[in-house]
Amino acid sequence: MVLAGLLVLGVAAAARAQQPIDAASLYAKTCASCHGPKGTPSAGMASMHIPDFTTSAFAAIPDSSLRNTVAAGKGRMMPSYKTRLTTEQIAALVGYIRTFGRH
Ligand code: HEC
Repeated sequence: MVLAGLLVLGVAAAARAQQPIDAASLYAKTCASCHGPKGTPSAGMASMHIPDFTTSAFAAIPDSSLRNTVAAGKGRMMPSYKTRLTTEQIAALVGYIRTFGRH
């Protein structure tokens, strides 16, 4: 009985680990309130100096630097996510915000 329970838990954990990260909904839930649904901050956010993810200036910043910023936070308004998101989630989000500049 206990063994069967452990087995079920193990299978569930493996299934979770293999699930691809849904970066789009994670972004929508966690980041879009400040960064805008398409990576351009809304006019109301202008005073926060939020970078526009669609610009070429943004594209020039290396991924490693963006991952560090998301983990550590930046300035007074950009929160630190290192205790709330996994390294994999942060990497997926950085990949996702790159796509905003490509259309
Ligand atoms: C409360 C508002 C807020 C939320 C929520 C927020 N950000 Fe930010 N973010 C900012 C601000 C403000 C800046 C500009 C910080 C600065 O340059 O001082 C910023 C900057 C950034 C940068 C630019 C880093 C650089 O090197 O210039 C990235 C990347 C970023 N945020 C990603 C994210 C991601 C991914 C999320 C969701 C997990 C997120 N942000 C959630 C406000 C926010």
